Amino acid sequence: MSIKAEEISALIKKQLDGYQDELTVAETGIVTYIGDGVVRAYGLDNALSGELLEFQNGVYGMVQNLESNNVGIVVLGDDTGIREGDSVKRTGRIMEVPVGENLVGRVVNSLGQPIDGKGQITTEKTAPIEHKAPGIMERKSVDQPLQTGIKAIDALVPIGRGQRELIIGDRKTGKTSIAVDTILNQKDQNMICIYVAIGQKDSTIKQQVETLRRFGALDYTIVITAGPSEPAPLLYVAPYAGAAMGEYFMNKGRDVLIVFDDLTKQANAYRELSLILRRPPGREAYPGDIFYTHSRLLERAAKLNDKLGGGSMTALPIVETQAGDVSAYIPTNVISITDGQIFLNSDMFYSGDRPAIDAGTSVSRVGGDAQIPAMKKVAGTLRIDLASYHELESFAQFGSDLDEATRSKLDRGARTVEVLKQKLHDPIPVEKQVLILYCLTHGYLDKLPVDDVLRFQTELFHNFDDSHADLLQQIKTTGKLPDEDALKAAVSSFMELFKPSTPASAKQ
Ligand SMILES: Nc1ncnc2c1ncn2[C@@H]1O[C@H](COP(=O)(O)OP(=O)(O)O)[C@@H](O)[C@H]1O
Ligand SMILES: [Mg+2]
Repeated sequence: MSIKAEEISALIKKQLDGYQDELTVAETGIVTYIGDGVVRAYGLDNALSGELLEFQNGVYGMVQNLESNNVGIVVLGDDTGIREGDSVKRTGRIMEVPVGENLVGRVVNSLGQPIDGKGQITTEKTAPIEHKAPGIMERKSVDQPLQTGIKAIDALVPIGRGQRELIIGDRKTGKTSIAVDTILNQKDQNMICIYVAIGQKDSTIKQQVETLRRFGALDYTIVITAGPSEPAPLLYVAPYAGAAMGEYFMNKGRDVLIVFDDLTKQANAYRELSLILRRPPGREAYPGDIFYTHSRLLERAAKLNDKLGGGSMTALPIVETQAGDVSAYIPTNVISITDGQIFLNSDMFYSGDRPAIDAGTSVSRVGGDAQIPAMKKVAGTLRIDLASYHELESFAQFGSDLDEATRSKLDRGARTVEVLKQKLHDPIPVEKQVLILYCLTHGYLDKLPVDDVLRFQTELFHNFDDSHADLLQQIKTTGKLPDEDALKAAVSSFMELFKPSTPASAKQ
């Protein structure tokens, strides 16, 4: 029997080919487990944490766990087409989303793909969804106001550009409404808004998008949504994707407002995928890095220094509480990360004090520097007025013969509560806020029946628009109160025109 040289060389070649195959295991893996949006794969020895992977059927996944003999992957999409034994290959890219101007005015999913039926979005750039937050030297202190158009916020818990202010409260207390109304008020403010909806009903999103569109706010807003029917990983990455889109504008020197609605649902999605990945559960079954999940996200909000263009990203994270319990795990975490919180009180909401902002427990730790001087001047005593009002209120229910000082505090307090009420989708420009608060704190409302306060406000604004637009303009451009005599004269002349519904004396 003779041995053919060609046969041997063919055999060796075949062996060598096989050898090559084994080597590529580092770049491709085999699915060994699939369930609940999580895949374990053998191989992929070189995979990076956070790397994007592509499954055989074209669905993408993201590397979450790097273990000694397998890789834990979360599926970014439908996992029903993936089977055990399928191959999965590295893309060499960390997870990225498209960024750029063309996203503005669009509704996209967590991957930046359009879902509004308005066709493809072409962007030149993409950016990794995870990005290191600006360091200390790259920042500047917050010194410019972000006007929400909501009296109770701009007066009591002012927000500055680059700040992180938490909106916290039970379900259905107006959290989303505050965020949306704040976006509405950014019209013509040269602000890019990003609304990240996490785990919200599709019908709710549709309603919010419609509201934004109706008020012309969609023109400067990007809506990112990960609905409750989508896999948990998409809910988890949505806020990071939003932050990446926001950073693009911030780094160009623009001002950005980003709303995360809400981080409770994002934390729940992260808990779900962590448990399926078999990470050890900690308090309330959240994984050990849940604090880091939120802190690294919210640290990306910043006011950049002038050398870096002076852009800013203001974050309004939303957290939902159960029965007003702010001492639960996620609320305490996020409270400690942010620069203050707007606490919404459900009792106030149901008794009709809307927006239900609890002045006693709401704070803004940096925003005061960012308030315009006129607002600072008129709103200075507001918090004290409110606090002493609430203190006296319960007590006054018993006594009928109150002394003059107590009565006047009660009168002022009742009117303060009334002035801070505001309708939905009715943002008030800062100069008009200053005007009504000026009237309040200078005692012009004290003798009016409480029920007349909001009508007084409406008519006052009309009157000033018609007859004293110069004064309003002055507040707007200089940020300061106009000449006191002129303002007093203007308010007094309006007071003469205003007809209270019942004579003030009859109420006494
Ligand atoms: N300032 C307000 N005045 C009147 N109704 C309001 C106000 N704020 C919110 N609402 C109403 O309250 C309901 C719940 O508000 P929403 O913002 O969805 O609450 P949450 O996001 O806290 O669940 C909505 O139907 C909204 O129309
Ligand atoms: Mg909501």
